[in-house]
Amino acid sequence: MSFTINATINDKKVSASTEASTSLLEFLRDTLEMKGTKLCCNTGECGACTIIFNGKPINSCVTLAADADGATITTIEGLADGANLHAVQQAFIDTGAVQCGYCTPGYIMSVAALLDRTAKPTAEDIEEAVSGNICRCTGYAKIVDAIHLAADRLSGRA
Ligand code: FES
Ligand code: FES
Repeated sequence: MSFTINATINDKKVSASTEASTSLLEFLRDTLEMKGTKLCCNTGECGACTIIFNGKPINSCVTLAADADGATITTIEGLADGANLHAVQQAFIDTGAVQCGYCTPGYIMSVAALLDRTAKPTAEDIEEAVSGNICRCTGYAKIVDAIHLAADRLSGRA
C-alpha cells in the first residue's frame, strides 16, 4: 500500500508517495534522488546514513519513511549555504579528515548536530556524538581535529 509523506527537507516542503516498508534512507536516495546520504551497512551499525531528524541525528536506514510524515529533516545536501560550505564540511577538508569519503556525510551530520547543541564540546561530548559513526580510513585523529576546528570557527575562536 502506498501513501504520501509530507515533510520539510532542507527547508523545502516535500510531498511524495512511498510504501509502508520503505526506509527513510531509500526514500531520500531513491524516491527523492538525494544521494548524499550514504547506504553502507543498512543495519544501523555504521552511521553512514546519518541525517538530522527533528533536531536529532538518526540512522535513516533503520527508520521508516512513514515516520517522516510531518518531520523536519536536514541532510548533507542542506548544510552548505550556496557555494559556502558549512563550517563542519570545510573543517573536514582543511584537516584532511576525508579519505574515501564514504563515512563523511554521516560524520558531518552527527558533528553538525553536536555543534548545534554545544559550542565548546568536551572530548566526552565528541566521543559520544560520533560513537555511532565508523570510519575505515582516517584513524579518527583527523576527524577529531576537524571537530575541534569547526567548533572553534563556529564560535569565533579561530
Ligand atoms: Fe545506516 Fe550503516 S547505513 S547505519
Ligand atoms: Fe573512508 Fe571514512 S573516509 S570510511
